[in-house]
Amino acid sequence: MKVLVTGGAGYIGSHVVRELFDQGHEVVILDDLSLGNPENIDPRASFIEGSIHDLPRLEEAFTQRVEAVFHFAAFKAAGESMLAPQKYARNNIAGTINLLNTMLAHDVKTMVFSSTAAVYGNPRYLPVDEKHPTEPTNFYGYTKLEIENTLEWYAQLKGLRYAALRYFNAAGYDVQGRISGREYNPANLLPLVMEVAAGERAELQIFGADYPTADGTGVRDYIHVNDLATAHLAALEYLSKNKDNLKINLATGQGYSVLEVVEAARRITGKEILVKIVGRRTGDPAELVATSRIAGELLGWQAQHSDLDTLLTSMWQIYNQQSS
Ligand code: UD1
Repeated sequence: MKVLVTGGAGYIGSHVVRELFDQGHEVVILDDLSLGNPENIDPRASFIEGSIHDLPRLEEAFTQRVEAVFHFAAFKAAGESMLAPQKYARNNIAGTINLLNTMLAHDVKTMVFSSTAAVYGNPRYLPVDEKHPTEPTNFYGYTKLEIENTLEWYAQLKGLRYAALRYFNAAGYDVQGRISGREYNPANLLPLVMEVAAGERAELQIFGADYPTADGTGVRDYIHVNDLATAHLAALEYLSKNKDNLKINLATGQGYSVLEVVEAARRITGKEILVKIVGRRTGDPAELVATSRIAGELLGWQAQHSDLDTLLTSMWQIYNQQSS
């Protein structure tokens, strides 16, 4: 099948592009390279440089007779979204509507959508399942929920088929080492830990050690990008064989605390990794873990690479190489 991947030069998109080729598909990438890394563009793909606001470029993508869309192009920094909601509304919401309307104009009716745990907001219970209320606490999460709602309406009204995949904490790099371009300005824990190990950053700030967790630091459910990639392919296959649409979690059910991550990173990298405990970051829940039971049952999907050692080892390959 020929698949359009928006944001295909980005962190998750570039991994999914490799998985599409591994499984024998053809790929068209649309990416404006505002966050995507040109190094990560798979040379086998047909590449269009442009954004989802650029209607002529969008048209150009669909004239290549794509049959399905994997949609990653979005901004994703929760903190920034609270300071610049207009930017997030325009790019994430308005951009997705352009994309959907262009899809329908070309009679392309299948979308696998990159959604997020942020649609749930503060967890009311753990592990979070898909029945958990959706109450985003940041504007970023709101934009993704708004898109999910639009997908649902377009499904009812226009026969769109979609899978909204709600990722928890995406991390890791391709276990086969095929992706060499690092994410720009990462704000997440694992890449920051790697920057300290690589000597690019003096210390890691731990945002609070007084949470009601076993060691007082925040606990998250980290999921390897290669596992996210296989889930996207399984979702595409599911949509081709079934009539229902999907809104499902992608997580492991296993949480790791900030200190557990740091300890494992010290062991794997052999580096000291200085830390400093600072105050809590506004809006951070103590613990966020989820169940992916539905992804297991419907897609036959299970995380294979999301144990802490594999996550960190796959990242250290990239950070160690590039710091030496
Ligand atoms: C991340 C995303 C958020 C998304 C959510 C679920 C960011 C910044 N956050 O949130 O948008 O909704 O996943 O998909 O993109 N920590 C430190 N020091 C640091 C960085 C993080 O102690 O320098 C701690 C945090 O307090 C948290 C844990 O590490 O307990 C993970 O943080 P992070 O990687 O930023 O992810 P989330 O906050 O869970």
